Amino acid sequence: TAQRAALKTEAAALLKAHNAVLVAHFYVDGDLQDLALETGGIVSDSLEMARFGRDHAAQTLVVAGVRFMGETAKILSPEKRVLMPDLDATCSLDLGCPADDFTAFCDAHPDRTVVVYANTSAAVKARADWMVTSSCALEIVSHLKAQGKKILWAPDRHLGRYIQEKTGADMLMWNGACIVHDEFKGLELELLREQHPGAMILVHPESPQSVVAQADVVGSTSALIKAVVEGTAQEYVVATDNGILHRMRQLAPNKTLIEAPTAGNSATCKSCAHCPWMAMNSLQGLIDCLKLGQGQIELDEPVRIEAKACITRMLDFTA
Ligand code: 13P
Ligand code: SF4
Repeated sequence: TAQRAALKTEAAALLKAHNAVLVAHFYVDGDLQDLALETGGIVSDSLEMARFGRDHAAQTLVVAGVRFMGETAKILSPEKRVLMPDLDATCSLDLGCPADDFTAFCDAHPDRTVVVYANTSAAVKARADWMVTSSCALEIVSHLKAQGKKILWAPDRHLGRYIQEKTGADMLMWNGACIVHDEFKGLELELLREQHPGAMILVHPESPQSVVAQADVVGSTSALIKAVVEGTAQEYVVATDNGILHRMRQLAPNKTLIEAPTAGNSATCKSCAHCPWMAMNSLQGLIDCLKLGQGQIELDEPVRIEAKACITRMLDFTA
């Protein structure tokens, strides 16, 4: 609409005026994704967001995503100003893994290498040996297993189980889940596949085992987008947050995309597979954070320094 176009123009001007760059995730509002690309920013998965933010020369990073993504950017670039359109945008994995309980869990298992998913607070990362994202978890755990390491894994139990099955590593798991991916249903997916026998099934590894087991491709958001672009099938069933469909449609306009079934995926619930925290990111929020200098990520310096080590280890490993 005209109003959204006007907001986009205003946001682009503010980014420029503040020497700021927009770093967006594939699950946020489509206008924010487009704005990021149109203004020299990026829309990507969490690994590439971290790398891009670290390497970009801009003094201000605006991170459109959830809190841990903003924190990761700040941990890597303390000299930059890191803003978020809404600082309350969190994640069920982060919420389900409080630093105190996590620290006690680690203390009880001192023989294990602590590997945490990116979707955690800075304080949890400060206690970890390695951070991983969905795009490099398999590689890093395989590497640790080859070194004979026993692993303590947190917080996503589905991703953890998938990695454990693939690598055979000894992994003690935290019991967390993503409220969005946890809703995908294996039985309903089987029925859908019968109706679309030629469809390729794309699954994010935060989904339950019954769903991952039916996948043609299991991967990070970037990997799933690549699979649609490069795949030879006409139809694709997508088991991840439906915010990703925006970019998939842009990059593969002639392909048919079908949302994977969730418990409430019916006429009454068109958007079950959409993260409520990712949805808190808006054009107006972006404008406000730049105009008013609000939504700034601030971290305790000792925590930041400790958290940085596990992220740097991952970035160096995947470089
Ligand atoms: P990706 O790293 O695959 O983009 O997933 C991160 C995530 O869970 C965002 O919610
Ligand atoms: Fe967290 Fe899931 Fe939302 Fe991603 S989609 S931010 S993992 S709750």
